[in-house]
Amino acid sequence: MKPKKIVIANWKMNPVTASEAKVLFTQIKKKASLLKRTHVVIAPPSLYISVSTQSTKKSKNFFLGAQNVHTHTSGAYTGEVSAPMLKDSGVSYVIVGHSERRATGETDELISKKVQTILSNKMIPVLCVGEREHDQNGLYLSTLANQIKNSLIGVLKLDISQVIIAYEPVWAIGKTAGEAMDSHKLHETTLFIRKVLGEVYGRLLADSVKIIYGGSVEAENASELIQNGNVSGFLVGHASLSALSFSDILKSVDNA
Ligand code: PGA
Repeated sequence: MKPKKIVIANWKMNPVTASEAKVLFTQIKKKASLLKRTHVVIAPPSLYISVSTQSTKKSKNFFLGAQNVHTHTSGAYTGEVSAPMLKDSGVSYVIVGHSERRATGETDELISKKVQTILSNKMIPVLCVGEREHDQNGLYLSTLANQIKNSLIGVLKLDISQVIIAYEPVWAIGKTAGEAMDSHKLHETTLFIRKVLGEVYGRLLADSVKIIYGGSVEAENASELIQNGNVSGFLVGHASLSALSFSDILKSVDNA
């Protein structure tokens, strides 16, 4: 059986009210239940995680995600949420190392600790990596290689196939960013990411890691990106806040 593809909705700090979140959850869960080959994850603000479990309609393709986690499991860490708390609230996937969090000062070293915490709490880390600028000389490749290697320090061979790598070139992220990466360029970059993983974990294990893409994935480009980009799915920001756009993306991925 072919492994399932995966589309993760990163709601970021949206929507503004719990009732809007509930409506969106319900609409997306309904669409997810119709998919055959795709898992759907919604990563809402942590305050809304419990809202999802209240919304109707169970779906075997639907999972809950979180946008961040603290490295410690409990204690005096004001404003933080721990991995056991997320796990207890029904979360299965945790986004880590998103560029918007790296921009607040998160280092590869901290991110690697978060990845390990997520794994030891039996959840799946969605490790975001991506260059800020896409220079023509290929310098961005060493940025990527360093992010991957350093953010995975301490992750054992035993665990690496659990990790999802979300390749998100920072210049392509957001409604105002312009366009997503070209699908053929994306294909090349995924080969490079696998090569880097192979240097650390060996070819076979590197091949078992899912690589997904994020950065201006829209209803209009999802089909092209999934067919030619050599990825197992997407991490979707702004387009995941519209049930209509998001379900078009889900359809494209499921039909690919
Ligand atoms: P975007 O965001 O789809 O709005 O570009 C993607 C992300 O930041 O994960």
